[in-house]
Amino acid sequence: MADLFDKNINTGMNTGVNSSIGINIDISPYINEFKDFLSSKYKPKIDNMISNYPKKRSIYVDYKDLEKYNPDIADKLIDEPEMLIMAANEALSSFMGNLTMTPAIQQFGLRPHVRFVNLPDMGLMIQNISSSMIGKLISVKGVVTKRAEVRHMVKTALYRCSVCDAEYRVDLTKSQPPTVCEACKRKALRLIKEGSEFIDIQRCEMQELLERVKGGAPPARIELWTEEDMVNAVTPGDTVEVVGILKIKQPDMTRNRKKSFIYARYIDVVSVRSLQRDFEEIVITKNDEDKIRELAARPDIFDLLTESVASGIYGHKEVKQALVLQLFGGTRDKKMPGGAPIRDDIHILLIGDPGVSKSRLLQYIAELAPKSIYVSGKSVSSAGLTASAERDELDEGGWTLKAGALVLASGGIASIDEFDKIDPRDRAALHEAMESQTISVAKAGIVARMRAKTAILAAANPKFGRFDINRPIGEQFDIPPTLLSRFDLIFPMIDTMDTKFDSAVADKILYAHKGKDVDELERTEVIDPVLMRKYIAYTRQTLRPRLSEEAMKHIKGFYLELRALGKKQNAVPITARQIEGIIRMAEASAKTRLSEVVELIDAKRATMLTEHMLRSVGMDRETGEFDIDIVATGNPKSKMDKLNTVINIIEELSKSVDEVDIQDVISEAKSYNIQRYLVEQIIRELISKGEIYEPTPGHIEFTDKR
Ligand SMILES: Nc1ncnc2c1ncn2[C@@H]1O[C@H](COP(=O)(O)OP(=O)(O)O)[C@@H](O)[C@H]1O
Ligand SMILES: [Mg+2]
Ligand SMILES: [Zn+2]
Repeated sequence: MADLFDKNINTGMNTGVNSSIGINIDISPYINEFKDFLSSKYKPKIDNMISNYPKKRSIYVDYKDLEKYNPDIADKLIDEPEMLIMAANEALSSFMGNLTMTPAIQQFGLRPHVRFVNLPDMGLMIQNISSSMIGKLISVKGVVTKRAEVRHMVKTALYRCSVCDAEYRVDLTKSQPPTVCEACKRKALRLIKEGSEFIDIQRCEMQELLERVKGGAPPARIELWTEEDMVNAVTPGDTVEVVGILKIKQPDMTRNRKKSFIYARYIDVVSVRSLQRDFEEIVITKNDEDKIRELAARPDIFDLLTESVASGIYGHKEVKQALVLQLFGGTRDKKMPGGAPIRDDIHILLIGDPGVSKSRLLQYIAELAPKSIYVSGKSVSSAGLTASAERDELDEGGWTLKAGALVLASGGIASIDEFDKIDPRDRAALHEAMESQTISVAKAGIVARMRAKTAILAAANPKFGRFDINRPIGEQFDIPPTLLSRFDLIFPMIDTMDTKFDSAVADKILYAHKGKDVDELERTEVIDPVLMRKYIAYTRQTLRPRLSEEAMKHIKGFYLELRALGKKQNAVPITARQIEGIIRMAEASAKTRLSEVVELIDAKRATMLTEHMLRSVGMDRETGEFDIDIVATGNPKSKMDKLNTVINIIEELSKSVDEVDIQDVISEAKSYNIQRYLVEQIIRELISKGEIYEPTPGHIEFTDKR
């Protein structure tokens, strides 16, 4: 405990900057003001707190009420919060009579707190917090990125001189720890733990709201310190409005002398309110709403939206249509009969050749979406992507819970480039995030589950340079089938080598470099990105479209038709999982028209995109049949059949010889209509899986594990 104490007195809770709280200022007039104010309006809240004391030991006071009661006091609270909050707390204590004198409270210092909320919103951003605000009460919004463990800090310390036994009681939140005994003038003071009063403190970090930062600059951050009943009040990923006193930390001289003139800032938290609605930050005026309604009424709105997505990129119409649906998202807050939430976010994967603008599309979406984050699978760590518990300097090497991109972008879209390069160890967390939309961390005694209601837009490059449309995608991308099946739509983007297409692409790029507006080239109309962002935020906040009869009938018909086809072909063309995806897309389509009803046209749009996907990735190239197994397992049904046939052939042949000649397998397979290249490929796969091995060149044998 002793070292903990030493640490804490150096870390600065005690460097309260406001020197006005000295013994020389009499705060009793303020105490009396607060007594009057509290009894005028907050008596029921106080009574409620008293009956639940000490479990409940704070009351929340609306700043607007104080302002109405006495504007001068309200102003003073902003300017000299340390003193005024102390007076407010004293006033609150006075209502409690003898309650605060119970031993538990005396011992643990569970004092009641007045926590002010609802300060006038000045739109203060973290990046604009300045040194002129030090010591003032500020209100700022952000998303919590990290949370350290709860620590215990000395509030009132008892010192005893080991020479003359003189005792000193020092409030360390206000004064520096004494070094010399005043009675005997010796450096012999020791902290007496038993007589000292400890409180819980916790450090957190918060960063600028994603919907407020644009253009890829790293978001500004600030530390938060919470005390007593405020510890564990926030979890990484929470979007919050914090009211607190801006303070500075004393530089840590012992660790780094060079840094000693840099005073790091933190907010001594008074209250936290979590922001309930997504995109609360995006202000939509009456005028904006009119413009949105006007746009939504246009019959060509969906095409217009499609044109407005990544307008600098030529072609890829279906991809852009899918991106529009992803931006709007399905109907939120739906539940299964058992109460389990149904995912409303649409996940999209772009796969294909290098240089076909996958990365650019991802960047466009990251800029356009009201809330988004862009990461690359190559560089992002698991902490950066999902969440983790790590040793961190925020807690001087203790365990800190950290939120990654998927948690921070909750409510928005996460663009993940180089999806195939994500460390296999981080994939487990991705499964959870993509389906149940939560991320769990259980490590070093920290157990936490964070919300990650994030739509994923991923891009992946093929393993062998170019994408081969004739080979199953599972073979060409380092993405496990279980993860592939979580995507609602998968688009192969192929470099077609088409001259007309190439020429149009060249024009787009050349015009962009000339600094000309793309509109001028095509004379197409696009929606202004700022308005589009508001459009999306507005629909996400207000609309919960439901399926109409016709839409349901169409989706069911589409599903049954494909299932029947699959049965006939002995393949699995579509699974129930796709139905949910189709519904999500249809709902999103309804939102683009500001409709509360999912109409036939929306359902058709969704099935059309699904069919497009099945045609491009779910089609067995050998048989021309739809086969969702290609997506789900990476192998078409026809190949699975062939794999089994080849294994049977090898088994059959090894009955007569030890080492089977590969040529024999190939000629035998011919009679089953299996081509040479496929046999060789299957044998390669079996070798790499360790099922068979090559004892002598050109010959194979089953390994012992069979
Ligand atoms: N259809 C297109 N329209 C406009 N520009 C394109 C198109 N296809 C490729 N480009 C350009 O080619 C470049 C490479 O694209 P990039 O997004 O890096 O490809 P990928 O991530 O697929 O490898 C980008 O500058 C992009 O703008
Ligand atoms: Mg790329
Ligand atoms: Zn002494």
